This record gives sequence, C-alpha cells and structure tokens, in this order.
Amino acid sequence: MIYVDNAATTFPKPKEVYTQVLDCMKNYGANPGRSSHNLALKAETKVSEAREIVSNFFKVTNPFNIIFTCNATEGLNIGIKGVLKPGDHVISTVIEHNSVLRPLNSLSKKGVKVTLVGVDKYGQVNIANLKKEIKKNTKMIIINHASNVLGTIQYINSIGKLAKSEGILFMVDASQSAGTIDIDVCRDNIDLLAFPGHKGLLGPQGTGGLFIRSDIMLEPFKEGGTGSNSNSMNQPDFNPDRFESGTLNVPGIVGLSEGIKFIEKVGRRNIQNHEKQLIEYLLKELKKLDFIKIYGHTSYKNRCSVVSINIDTMESSNVGYLLNKKGIAVRTGYHCASLIHGIIGTIKWGTVRISPGYFNTFDDIESVIKALKEIYTGV
Ligand code: ALA
Repeated sequence: MIYVDNAATTFPKPKEVYTQVLDCMKNYGANPGRSSHNLALKAETKVSEAREIVSNFFKVTNPFNIIFTCNATEGLNIGIKGVLKPGDHVISTVIEHNSVLRPLNSLSKKGVKVTLVGVDKYGQVNIANLKKEIKKNTKMIIINHASNVLGTIQYINSIGKLAKSEGILFMVDASQSAGTIDIDVCRDNIDLLAFPGHKGLLGPQGTGGLFIRSDIMLEPFKEGGTGSNSNSMNQPDFNPDRFESGTLNVPGIVGLSEGIKFIEKVGRRNIQNHEKQLIEYLLKELKKLDFIKIYGHTSYKNRCSVVSINIDTMESSNVGYLLNKKGIAVRTGYHCASLIHGIIGTIKWGTVRISPGYFNTFDDIESVIKALKEIYTGV
C-alpha cells in the first residue's frame, strides 16, 4: 500500500518508535508518579525525559509547562475551555478544524462572543482583517498554523506579535505543522500551543500535548488522581499535575520522545525539505492534467505537505475508493473542517487529500499520478 494520508496520522513510524514502545510495555510499563519501586521510577524518568525533549523541540524553557494529552483536540479543548468565560471575545478563522470550531460553537451558546475571520481562496488569513476584529474584551486569538485541507501556512509570527502588542492570548493549533515546520514559542509569542504526537512528531496515536505559558491559569479540563497531594480532595494547582489526571499513556509518551529524537537525528529541515520536494513534484505533475482541480496555493510556498484535489466532477469518496483499490491510501471528504469548503467551492463532495510524509518517495508520487490518470480514463 502506498500511504499518502500522513495528515491524518503519519505511517509508518521510525523503527526506533516501535522498538521503544515495545520495550516500555515489556520491561518497565509501571505507573509513573504513583509508587516508589524501581519500575515506577524508570517510567517516571522516561516521562520526564520526554517532557524535556518536547520542551526543547518547541524552545519551551520550563518542561513543566508542557502537559501530555491524548491528541491535539484534547489540548485545544483544555486551552479554549480553560481560558474563555461568558462575556469574553475570541477571534479565530474559518479555516480551523472542528477541534476548534466545535468548542467555540458550544461556548458561543454559553455567552462567549466568537468572531471567525475569513480567508482567501488559498486559505490565507489577512492580518489586517484580523486586527479590525479586536475588541476591548478580546481574550484570545486562535490560529490553525497549517491547514489540514489546503496545507496553507499562516504567518503565526506576525499574528503572535499583534496578539502580544494588544495584550491578547495567542493559541496555535500545530496539528499539521509540529515536527516539520519550525515553531519557537518565545519567538512566535505563543501562549498556548496544542500539538498531536502522532503526526509530524512521528509518535504513536493517543499522544499529544499542550504548552501553557507560565502565567496563564487555566481551569483544569478533568480532575482526579495525579500521584501528588493525594490526601487532598483539591486538584493540584501546579503544572503538569493540574492537567494530567489519571494514568498517563507511558508507552505512547516514550514513543513520542523517540519520534522527536528521530527528527533531531535526521534534521527537521531535511524532513521539511524532502516533503517540499515531493509536493513540488506532485503539484508539477497535477498541473499537467486538465481534469484535475487543485485547491489552495499552486506552489509549495506557504504550503505544508497537504494537497487537496478533485477529478473533474467525480465524487471525492469514489476517487478515494478507487485509489484504495489500486493500493493508494488518501483521505477524502471534508477532513473535519466544516467551513473552508464554502470558500473553496467543495461543499458538494469535499476533496481528495494527498499528504505525503518523510517515508514517501518520488516513485510513490508517480504511482499516485498514474492511478489518478487511470481513474479518470476508467482503467
Ligand atoms: N485531523 C486529521 C485529518 O485531517 C485527523 O485527517
């Protein structure tokens, strides 16, 4: 199978990830922070090591400001619902994933004012338009760093500067960027960064995290056992325990740590560059086919490794079905992003999304092109 659905989750993972996840489960899979026996201490050490590795990756100075979650959605929910209260105003965009749009929609029914700024047909947010929406009670700006539908990369550094100058919290959804695109929470003035562990960071599913800047006091999303202050009925008020109730996914966290070590070994820039070359080749070949409609930017500039297309008037799910029959794995439909399809004109069927990853080759892209031609001609 040629897997080009890395925007949904990267596959395969580096070999080291599989080895270390198995080693953890077989050899020291105890509960960290609960007991003082050697196995629990080893598990605790591994979790602490992972927290440091993640922190260094995003240039976070205090590792306790990273909390582990089970995916980016959980991190986004913790940040959004932990910050916003009735009467607050929040600015986000129409290119967000439902993991932002749905929490905002439900909060809007509880008295939070929500403004969703539009994007152009390439998915780009106009920062002047965003600035115009700032009000006295604007508490937070939430931006999707790289779109899972169009691949569009937003200028988070400029938006971060704007948010800082206006005294507004800046939250970034790094679901499609973490691991391949450079993110520095200090340089980019990010107050809250939600990221999955299982996409660009090359870890297992069921992993992710949230960076919370030190001076932000969020309401915890869940409460329960943390292994700390256990004789109190109050949730600890310090990070990461405040947000990490219940047994952690230690094998997953160990795998996430290995994923990042792999990225450091290969070089994030080299990974990004490989994906850039694959996308440039894919776009070049797609542009030769007059029956293909490409959405978003037609070059790699401001684009991550995501390309959405349609074949003529064919239903996207049918194209996905036929590609699967030819041994090619893509995602089709709306990609859990409910509003962007109104802008790019794909409300009827959604799109066919091709998202190559580090382990894909130019031969893979050639096979995808060949399969698309065959599907169009009915072969
Ligand atoms: N959000 C992920 C995707 O775009 C799952 O496929």
